[in-house]
Amino acid sequence: MNDQNAGMDVTTAIFQRRSVRHFLEAPVERKVIMEAIKAASWAPSGLNNQPWRFAIIWDTDLKEQLAKLTRYAAVLRSAPVLVVVFLDKESSYDSVKDVQAVGAAIQNLLLTLHSKGLGAVWIGEILKNQERLLAILDLPDRLQLMAVVAAGHPAHRSQSSHRRSLEELILLER
Ligand SMILES: Cc1cc2nc3c(=O)[nH]c(=O)nc-3n(C[C@H](O)[C@H](O)[C@H](O)COP(=O)(O)O)c2cc1C
Repeated sequence: MNDQNAGMDVTTAIFQRRSVRHFLEAPVERKVIMEAIKAASWAPSGLNNQPWRFAIIWDTDLKEQLAKLTRYAAVLRSAPVLVVVFLDKESSYDSVKDVQAVGAAIQNLLLTLHSKGLGAVWIGEILKNQERLLAILDLPDRLQLMAVVAAGHPAHRSQSSHRRSLEELILLER
């Protein structure tokens, strides 16, 4: 954990966070990952149904098996830890609202990792291989794969990004 970032303001974290796809080999503290997952679990959800579920993957062999399911294999391989995020269909009450809630949870996870000095990227390309992922992890098919978040100490912070201007985004104000 980077203490300089302790208690980082939420808007600072939002604006500073960039997807990180290259990681150092330096180990990641389990307690930081648990804190980020706790922050994820404090996302809002419809009827407070908390439909998110997580699998934490440190094991090199398991990471390699998951890496083979995506063209972002190099990202998964180089990340010291993967957080696999699911929607538990048994906790679901409204498919759209449940997916929205899990998205909010993933954003909390990313922002918390950033605020603790870690880098991460939300990998969605792997969703096409949900069945194979569930088989590898020996998890039941009531779980719908939402994302794999690859996390670790960033190899660099030179990633840039851009956003549409507010003029393009705000359709109406009166
Ligand atoms: C639903 C979703 C799926 C994504 N899937 C991938 C992915 O499969 N691979 C990847 O490298 N980045 C993926 N990303 C990260 C986006 O590419 C990234 O957030 C976007 O380019 C904006 O860059 P920034 O996160 O650095 O601001 C995904 C993001 C979201 C929200």
